Amino acid sequence: MSASAKILITMLSLLAAPALLVAQEKPLAATPPMGWNSWNKFGCNVSEDMIQQMADAMVKSGMKDAGYQYIVIDDCWQVERDPSANIVPDAKRFPSGIKALADYVHSRGLKFGIYSDAGSMTCAKRPGSLGHEYQDALQYAAWNVDYLKYDWCNTSTQDAQAAYALIRNALNATGRPIVLSICEWGTAKPWLWGKTVGGNLWRTTGDITDKWEAKEKYSLGMLNILDLQNGLESYAGPGHWNDPDMLEVGNGGMTTDEYRAHFSLWSVLAAPLIAGNDLRDMKPEIHDILTNKEVIAVNQDPLGSEGRRVLKDGDQEVWSKQMQDGSRAVVLLNRAVTEKEIGFSWEILGYPSHLNAGVRDLWRAKELGQFKEKFSTAVAPHSVVMVRVTP
Ligand code: GLA
Repeated sequence: MSASAKILITMLSLLAAPALLVAQEKPLAATPPMGWNSWNKFGCNVSEDMIQQMADAMVKSGMKDAGYQYIVIDDCWQVERDPSANIVPDAKRFPSGIKALADYVHSRGLKFGIYSDAGSMTCAKRPGSLGHEYQDALQYAAWNVDYLKYDWCNTSTQDAQAAYALIRNALNATGRPIVLSICEWGTAKPWLWGKTVGGNLWRTTGDITDKWEAKEKYSLGMLNILDLQNGLESYAGPGHWNDPDMLEVGNGGMTTDEYRAHFSLWSVLAAPLIAGNDLRDMKPEIHDILTNKEVIAVNQDPLGSEGRRVLKDGDQEVWSKQMQDGSRAVVLLNRAVTEKEIGFSWEILGYPSHLNAGVRDLWRAKELGQFKEKFSTAVAPHSVVMVRVTP
C-alpha cells in the first residue's frame, strides 16, 4: 500500500470514529419507557401548573427513584398555527411556553414528552402535523422535547407505515434523540413494521378504559387489552415495544387487587409503564403498586423479552417472562369472582421437571421455598399472585 493510501485510510478512520461512538450509545428505550402521561386522568384539562406539579410529585413520591422518567403532555396543549405555520401552544394554559416547561421538567432530573397526530387534526381536533412534519420536529427539538406520542386521528387515506417513517425521519433530522411512540391503535398491525420505521413503542389496541373487563362492544377494559396481546410477544425487544396503552392504576375504576393485577401483567408484558393517575394525590396502596421495585425489575429486565401466556384454563391463566439471569417471572391470574387454586409445571416454563427452583412472591417480598416440578397457590378473585422462579 502506498504511503498516501495509508494516510487516506488513517484520515477516514479518524473521521468515522465519532460515528462509531454514536452507534455504540445505548439505544433509545433500551428497556420499556417509564413515565407519566396526562390523558387518562386529565384529558384536555392540561396546564403548565399541573404538569410542573406532576414533575415535582414524581420526584417527591419516589417514582423517579423507582425508574419513572418521562412526563408527557398528551392532546390539547396546541391551539393553532401562526402565519408561518408554526404550531402555537395554548397561551392561557401554558403562559411561559413549552420550552420553559421542558426546562422545568429537566431541572427535576426528568425527561419531557409531547403529543401530536399524523393527520390534519388531533383526536381532540387540535392542529395535526400533516404537511408540517419537519417544521414540527424542529420545533420540538428547539423546545428540548425527548419523547413524541404521535396519534392517528383524521388521517383519511394516509398510509400508516409511511406516515410514521416520515415523522421518524423528521425527528432524526433534528439531531436530537427523541423517543417515538406510535399511537395507531393496532389497526395496520404496527408490530410488523414499527421497528423498521424507527418506532420505539406502538399501541396494539384502541384506548384502555379504567375497568377490569368491559362488556360493551367497543370499550376495552384491562383484560380485553391483555387478551389482544397474546401472540405479539416476538415483536418486542430492546428499543421497540408493544404498547398495550397507559396505566389506569389509581384512577378509581378498579379495586386495589385489580390494579395490582394490571401492573403485574403490564410488567410481564414488558409494556411501557406510563402512569396515568394524579401523582399529587396517591393513596398509599396505589403508591406501593406503582413503585414496587421487584415488579418493576421484571418489566425493566435488560433481556427485554416480552412475557407470554403459557396456560389458560377458563378463568385461570399463567403468564411467564424470561429474565436475563435465566429465572422466570410468573403471573398467576384469576379472572373469576371466586378464589382459585392456580398452578404451573416447570415444563411449561421451559425447565426440566427434576430441577429444584426457588419461588419468591414478589408482592409479599417473601421466599416461598424450594420446589420441584411444579408450583401452585390460591389466588383471590380478580387478582394475581406474582412470583419469580429461580432454578
Ligand atoms: C387517542 C389516543 C389516546 C389519547 C387521545 C387524545 O384516543 O389513543 O391515547 O392520546 O387520542 O385525544
